[in-house]
Amino acid sequence: MLEALPGLEAVAEGELRTVPLARDIRGLRFWYPGEPERLTRLRGAVAAYRVRAWDVPRPRGLLGHQQLGELTAFLEEVGRFGGHRSFRLAAAGRESSVMTRIAEELQTALNLPHDPEEGELLIRLRPQEDGPGWEVLARLTPRPLSARPWRVCNMGGGLNATVAYALHKLAGQRDEDRIFNPMSGSGTLLVERALLGPYDAMVGVDTNAEAVECARSNLRAAGREVEVAQVDALQTGLPPRSFDLIVSDLPWGDAVGTHGGNAVLYPAFLAEMHRLCSRQGRLVVLTHEIKLFERILREQDRWNARELFQVYSGGHHPKAYLLGKR
Ligand SMILES: C[S@@+](CC[C@H](N)C(=O)[O-])C[C@H]1O[C@@H](n2cnc3c(N)ncnc32)[C@H](O)[C@@H]1O
Repeated sequence: MLEALPGLEAVAEGELRTVPLARDIRGLRFWYPGEPERLTRLRGAVAAYRVRAWDVPRPRGLLGHQQLGELTAFLEEVGRFGGHRSFRLAAAGRESSVMTRIAEELQTALNLPHDPEEGELLIRLRPQEDGPGWEVLARLTPRPLSARPWRVCNMGGGLNATVAYALHKLAGQRDEDRIFNPMSGSGTLLVERALLGPYDAMVGVDTNAEAVECARSNLRAAGREVEVAQVDALQTGLPPRSFDLIVSDLPWGDAVGTHGGNAVLYPAFLAEMHRLCSRQGRLVVLTHEIKLFERILREQDRWNARELFQVYSGGHHPKAYLLGKR
């Protein structure tokens, strides 16, 4: 089964439906007889798990000789694929004596160190959704899928890569798009779009020199060439209608930017992006300043806007909007 950020389940499910051998898809649960490697290339989910249920009324039942043998074999197979170097348990009552015993038994049986905080083989135990037993979920990869291999540089306020993927998927992916990513930060939106497939042109700008360098490093690590410039997004000097898709996660007023500054920045941003956007173009905005942004939308008449999603990520609940010119 897959795990998605709350709010992005439909995006993850849509991507799952493109996996040739995924069958019997019910939300993020599915049956899959293919190579697990294919699942590790999913971009809209934060994790992929192998799942197996045991007909036991309580977790203690997993300590039975037969169940423990089966559980070990199940986890070893996942470990052989993922190359995990440690494990951890995630379950309600993780500190209970039964969970402690399960962890001790697995440590011996799997010959892997138990690291309760950082363990790479994440093992979730929970009551079965559609039966009386307990199910065990084992994460296929040592790190979440959202921790992309291309991320060699991180910055405060950096976007979760699965959110960037979702923004691009819902904005629409077109080969002929000229794409602008104002306020590109560490370049998450640029890299994720560059990895999705062809586009006509793409450029990112940020006023912060460190952010520009950070985005360049991430793009290099991803093996993609995209121009990133240290320029104010509101003063690019570019001609009108230069872009078909403008996509941005605006400063949110806590990690990046200030609330007072945003009250000035947001309307100025909408005005300038209106100038830079082509007639049929799309503007996609992700922001945590929901009240401010929705008030500004109500007070203007140049953009149509609709909400794309609200996601829970990193302690925030930002919303994404798709805007088109009236
Ligand atoms: C929320 S962060 C973007 C995060 C980015 N998507 C990432 O994944 O790292 C907002 C960025 O906007 C930049 N910024 C703020 N005002 C700007 C402006 N007027 N022009 C260009 N960049 C600006 C900040 O330097 C910051 O890097």
